[in-house]
Amino acid sequence: MNDFTFINEELHSLTEQGLRRELKTILTAGGPWAELAGGKRVLQFGSNNYLGLANHPEIINANKSAASKYGVGSTGSRLLSGTTELHVKLEKAIAEFEGTESAIFFSSGYAANVGVLSALVSKEDAIYSDELNHASIIDGIKLSGANKFIYNHNDCKNLEELLLNNKDKYKKSFIVTDSVFSMDGDIAPLEEIAKLAEKYNCITLVDEAHATGIFGKNNSGLLEELNLQQYFPLKIGTCSKAIGIEGGFCAGPKEVIDLLQNKARSFMFSTSTSPAITGAILKSIELIKDGNWRKEKLWQNAKLLYTGLKKNYKLKLNKFITPIICIYFNTTEEVMHISDRLFHEYHIWAPAIRPPSVKKPRIRLTPIATHSEDDINYVIKAFDHLSKDIKAEPLSLEVRH
Ligand SMILES: Cc1ncc(COP(=O)(O)O)c(C=O)c1O
Repeated sequence: MNDFTFINEELHSLTEQGLRRELKTILTAGGPWAELAGGKRVLQFGSNNYLGLANHPEIINANKSAASKYGVGSTGSRLLSGTTELHVKLEKAIAEFEGTESAIFFSSGYAANVGVLSALVSKEDAIYSDELNHASIIDGIKLSGANKFIYNHNDCKNLEELLLNNKDKYKKSFIVTDSVFSMDGDIAPLEEIAKLAEKYNCITLVDEAHATGIFGKNNSGLLEELNLQQYFPLKIGTCSKAIGIEGGFCAGPKEVIDLLQNKARSFMFSTSTSPAITGAILKSIELIKDGNWRKEKLWQNAKLLYTGLKKNYKLKLNKFITPIICIYFNTTEEVMHISDRLFHEYHIWAPAIRPPSVKKPRIRLTPIATHSEDDINYVIKAFDHLSKDIKAEPLSLEVRH
């Protein structure tokens, strides 16, 4: 009875492969620096707080006043007692921000993808999905029971082959892709995907999680930046990255949103997000709409970091400059070694991403708008030091705490 030997075996196996993860406890608010339990202070290069809004005083105030007025708990799922006027306002604000007719708000981006895919796609349908799409898309497809076709990453030739091979075999066809890929920081060939969707009569779904707030004149995402919104009427976003809080959404035509309210199980069978969080997101979207300077500073930092690292010929970087900068390594041991040294010797939190999250081990660096130029230059120098001679290099760089 209750024999957990198999759990210990699995944990042991993860440890042996260098794949066992540990949680780090943070004592301070989300920002460019983090103080950790045990007293260590580190430069934070592992958050998705792109615009630095996670700790913005006006958002904190909005959170507090929403809690004072509506309480801390939403008291039920959205279809029961969990829809306050703030939830309604937020969905309106999201639709306006995204330039769509309507929007539905979920408790996370994960819940949005899982809920939307499982509600809209059925086992009689085909779904074409980029091999590097986020785990929540993968799980949503599994739940939908649809016939899935995984195309090689960003490879529209391969996508078209699959579309052609499966033409007319299924009731409806969907193409789903991230717009900015979360673990590689590269961007999807959205224009080509739009053409294929039109040619093969597919419905498209684009996950703008890492683009919301940081691309486009009105900051709504990459589709806006590329002027492709008309081809992609249905989009997913999160409030957990540039917006700086939590929650996810789907924005699109009214009839789709109405159906999602009636059919998306992660919306229907889960307590709605607290009014305090909802009020905070409303304020954050307001600030994003009003303040392009944060976005500009973020991009300045991303470019500075990318170009600085690029000068170091030993580092293998991703191809696109986005605020997700990846340095690839051949082995898990190597990536762990560098990430550990950055952390312990240079006080830089630069997370190693390894299997099973990704196939190819990498350090994923995410500069944010509130990093200073000195913070960025320090990281570049740290990589220069580490890459020269990882074992023998003496530490002459003045360590920042
Ligand atoms: C592309 C993508 N979609 C969805 C999600 C899930 O969003 P959330 O963290 O808000 O649940 C993430 C989060 O990492 C993501 O990167």
